[in-house]
Amino acid sequence: MLTPQWLDQLRSRVTLSALIGRTTRLQKAGREFKACCPFHNEKSPSFTVNDEKGFYHCFGCGAHGDAIRWMTDHQGLAFMDAVKELAAEAGMDVPAPDPRAARAAEKRDTLHDVMAAAQAWFASNLTAPEGAEARAYLATRGFDAHTIERFGFGYAPEGRQALSGALSRFPSAMLIDAGLRIAVDDKEPYDRFRGRLMLPIEDARGRVIAFGGRILAQEKTDAPKYLNSPDTPLFDKGRTLYNLHRAAPACRSSGRMIVVEGYMDVIALAAAGIGECVAPLGTALTEHQIELLWRHAETPILCFDGDTAGQRAAMRALTRALPLLKPAHSLRIVRLPEGLDPDDLLRSKGRAALESLLDQAKPLIDVLWEAEQAATALTTPEAKAGLKARLLAHVETIGHPDVANLYRRDLLDRYSAFAFPRRQEQPRGAPRKFNRRNGRDSYPAQAASDPDSIARLNRAMDGGTDALSAAVLSGLLRWPSEIARHAEALASTPALDSRFAALVDCCDAAPLLESEAVATILARQGIELPGSGAWSDVRFGFLQPDAQENQAKAELAQAIELLVERPALEAALARATARFESELSEEAFGEQQRLLKRKLEFDNRLRQMATRQAAAS
Ligand code: UTP
Ligand code: MN
Repeated sequence: MLTPQWLDQLRSRVTLSALIGRTTRLQKAGREFKACCPFHNEKSPSFTVNDEKGFYHCFGCGAHGDAIRWMTDHQGLAFMDAVKELAAEAGMDVPAPDPRAARAAEKRDTLHDVMAAAQAWFASNLTAPEGAEARAYLATRGFDAHTIERFGFGYAPEGRQALSGALSRFPSAMLIDAGLRIAVDDKEPYDRFRGRLMLPIEDARGRVIAFGGRILAQEKTDAPKYLNSPDTPLFDKGRTLYNLHRAAPACRSSGRMIVVEGYMDVIALAAAGIGECVAPLGTALTEHQIELLWRHAETPILCFDGDTAGQRAAMRALTRALPLLKPAHSLRIVRLPEGLDPDDLLRSKGRAALESLLDQAKPLIDVLWEAEQAATALTTPEAKAGLKARLLAHVETIGHPDVANLYRRDLLDRYSAFAFPRRQEQPRGAPRKFNRRNGRDSYPAQAASDPDSIARLNRAMDGGTDALSAAVLSGLLRWPSEIARHAEALASTPALDSRFAALVDCCDAAPLLESEAVATILARQGIELPGSGAWSDVRFGFLQPDAQENQAKAELAQAIELLVERPALEAALARATARFESELSEEAFGEQQRLLKRKLEFDNRLRQMATRQAAAS
């Protein structure tokens, strides 16, 4: 167990500047050291190292951390490896796990021995004379010898005592604990798997923890097609994904993770060269399995049959995922042609056909929307209200507040567009509503007030808010027709400046106001709009005097997206950082790193939007 105290002691024994100084040239600057940041490209040093605090920080890119962080972020080590390496240098012993955990691990170890022995025995049966029927069945599935060996196919012979005879060196109770034998009351225990083609189920480290056994011919009996190990100290069905230990490395190189329904599908995909594929074990995807998938890929792809049962299963997976959604993590869904599982599809249509379906995987929100929208005909106001209520009920189940807000906004947008389709656009010759005064041709009819008034506003107002909010406020004021379009998003983001609510309110009251009128109403309420000082170093294309209307509105929409997303992202990052600091687990660390990366991407997007130079005013 790594306690916070132990980690503090470790940090205090490491001189951070010496550690960083091995690979980065540091210059002494008072009590600190300075350097050109090793995490981003720069010409003048904004990276500092403070030995007293034990932290490094970059004022340019925000890179920040302690000695352990340095080892993980800069040297690329896993958390535990970083800890071990620093401890070795500091002459400290990494504490052993506590004794109770150690004893439980010992017991599991011996069950692991049983499972390994069983696997070896099943595999050897497949090549023995009694395995002939199983070999013949396998041949009908078209797997090559390499695949058969790689996935560890085996055979459990007929007979109720065959396994106990072969594994007699293990105590009888242990074979029962391992789920290989069944004991009912005081009757003689018997082998669970008989006359079946065997598939080992492995844990994330590749150790056999369970088996699945398939009957050789469907017609033979009315026995279930697959028989699986029961839950044992080694095997928790709901927390295991078949093939994860092979899929994880493949996923790291492809960035993709695919979830199918059956073992055989996983194996068929792997045989076709698609290694990043896993399956749950005969049940609907559990919450644990979803979390497990997210440790490897942000948006795993779930494949479902195109029939109604498959679609119901897709909805089940999706509604189970909603409460768990968090920034950057979701699911995508592929609907397979009806009646074909991925194995059949590969066989009949080939890998390219499957790849093209995978490329078209739909985001979770699309599947949710399409399912609800198709569920009833929207012929009456009641039906429309029903659709809206169902959508909002889904949103209610989303646990993460910021993801929930974004879902609400997106689903309501889709709902409005669908339930209230736009009437025809105004005819071209319609009277110009705006721009009476200057009438310059570079300003299309819908453009709001002229740039001079914006500049005047900018000069006149205080700088009480940050650059992005200020820019969006100015943008909305310049294009008041856009306020209604973004009202839902702005109103459902709690962390925003109160001036956004005031803007939305006054557009609710009178939807076709001009900029000047909006400004006047707000001024009457004592609400001041942003001044140039607030965003003097950040200029947005949509505020430029020569901005083209469509482009400007699109950019404004992007800026609003960033504005709405930012509090969510920052809150999530703060939570993840706090969690990492209290747990110090690798998982919490990974989550925090992922969010930090997203925050940097976010800032980059913002910077890109804001680089256009302002016209002098
Ligand atoms: P499928 O019937 O789709 O399996 O069940 P499959 O892999 O395509 O099987 P083949 O191609 O007919 O050999 C999907 C999964 O559901 C579980 C298994 O995990 C299977 O892989 N299952 C199915 C059972 O546990 N028991 C059963 O009787 C059937
Ligand atoms: Mn199949």
